[in-house]
Amino acid sequence: MKLQEALSTRKTFAIISHPDAGKTTLTEKFLLFGGAIQTAGAVKSNKIKKTATSDFMEIERQRGISVATSVMGFNYQGMQVNILDTPGHKDFAEDTYRTLTAVDSVILVIDCQKGVEAQTERLMEVCRMRNTPVIIFVNKMDRDGKDPFDVLDELEDKLNINVRPLSWPIGIGPTFQGVYNLFDTSLKLFSVNKTKIAKDAIEFENLESEQLDDLIGNEPADTLREEVEMIDGVYEKFNRDTYLGGELAPVFFGSALNNFGVKELLETFINVAPQPLSRPTDAREVEPLEEKFSGFVFKIHANLDPKHRDRIAFLRVCSGKFERNRFFHHVRLDKNLKFSNPSSFMASEKSTIEEAYPGDVIGLYDTGNFKIGDTLTEGEKISFKGIPSFSPEIFKELENRDPMKTKQLEKGIRQLTDEGVAQLFVRELGSKKIIGTVGELQFDVIKYRLEHEYAAKCDFRSLNYFKACWLTSEKEEKLNEFIRIKANDIVKDKDGNDVFLAPSAWILKLEQQNYPELNFHFTSEFKKDLQTV
Ligand code: G4P
Repeated sequence: MKLQEALSTRKTFAIISHPDAGKTTLTEKFLLFGGAIQTAGAVKSNKIKKTATSDFMEIERQRGISVATSVMGFNYQGMQVNILDTPGHKDFAEDTYRTLTAVDSVILVIDCQKGVEAQTERLMEVCRMRNTPVIIFVNKMDRDGKDPFDVLDELEDKLNINVRPLSWPIGIGPTFQGVYNLFDTSLKLFSVNKTKIAKDAIEFENLESEQLDDLIGNEPADTLREEVEMIDGVYEKFNRDTYLGGELAPVFFGSALNNFGVKELLETFINVAPQPLSRPTDAREVEPLEEKFSGFVFKIHANLDPKHRDRIAFLRVCSGKFERNRFFHHVRLDKNLKFSNPSSFMASEKSTIEEAYPGDVIGLYDTGNFKIGDTLTEGEKISFKGIPSFSPEIFKELENRDPMKTKQLEKGIRQLTDEGVAQLFVRELGSKKIIGTVGELQFDVIKYRLEHEYAAKCDFRSLNYFKACWLTSEKEEKLNEFIRIKANDIVKDKDGNDVFLAPSAWILKLEQQNYPELNFHFTSEFKKDLQTV
């Protein structure tokens, strides 16, 4: 296949949502349309989110499932569509942020009853950072919910993005009758339908048609006419360029569970979503059409089977053509590697591939060569950017409970943090290890995995820290002075960068005032911040 052809037939995206808004249900409906699965219920959802307390077996089971569901590919209207799965549980937020580096656009699912929720805001912040194009699906219209205009206002206010409805609901909950497609001016009437594909749309030349009154009743027809007029007056017209620039989000209304409004969403997505885009590196922007292969690892999965210690590294192809059994350059290790069993993922089927193109995500069997963020090229020494570590929110000191197993503990904690399960900081004074995460669940995962995979035992001691701040300064002496004075709260990250663990928001503010020469960065990719400051 020619590179150009491969590019024009690929769309790689993620569906994101606050847990329970309907991400899994929508994914499943997409796969049904694509023929990748035959019946609803085939995609196992991230039900880990539903376990209030941590359940180790559930975590383990999930890890197994999520290897299969990490990437779900299907074909639709000649397009190779790759959906990257993002965990719903907030404790795995960092995993989701990293996955978002590997997609070219996202579909955001909102529950019409709940509107914009906490996790929605955080995920969208990440999308806004990178100007990722977003399409919004307001779900569960078959249930009572907020007024659609209020939902649109909330989206604009809380997500800092302009919206443009492309479909409009007629009623909501018990009065929900269907959606009017503002794009092609057709009407779809709602019927409860969980598995089959919805009926064909009824097209209208204009909304004044009496047929509309006959179909939905006089009052709802009048309301629809008024609302559509209002939408056309208030919201700017859909413009693909502003959507591609991440400034305007088209909005659809529907019910994923009833497979309603999903086809319109998918078809618009196929039409407007970007093909594989260029990606920044520390040296230059890499264009997908470049002949030479390049890609980066954004996720690593350990094998569940304790007899096989290998892991799967998920690599996003950014340019050129990846080929099986060909040597590629691992930039960080300065080493050439070849892969005999690279896998691709179609729905939940995994199969060995011969080649892969920009936008594709492939699984590489790894015996410990990869860390998150690693770059593979044909020899060029570049590293892809945009895969920062974010400041953790919970910090705990790692305590060794079995001195005979110190080595195993060291190895285990290094490997687990390479996988991105948590972040590791080392305090130079006394070499104490501090683990930082965004959720409590991670500590249970680490403890369990250290015990079961590395035969090491540990405990955690809570530390009262507020944020990790990566430090830089043009004035080296000032930086050194700060590091000396604050030695107790200074740690090194895995790459040897200096990090200040701020005990509280108040102290952080104070230090920022006391040391105006220092830059306190809240992600590890501070070089990028420096350029933009
Ligand atoms: P998530 O991946 O975003 O966390 O959400 P998921 O799809 O698992 O959906 C969460 C719940 O919302 C599920 O119900 C699902 O059936 C329901 N749901 C999804 N879309 C719609 C919709 O359009 N209308 C209505 N009424 N419900 C919807 P559950 O009872 O929690 O799970 P299950 O037992 O049905 O799987």
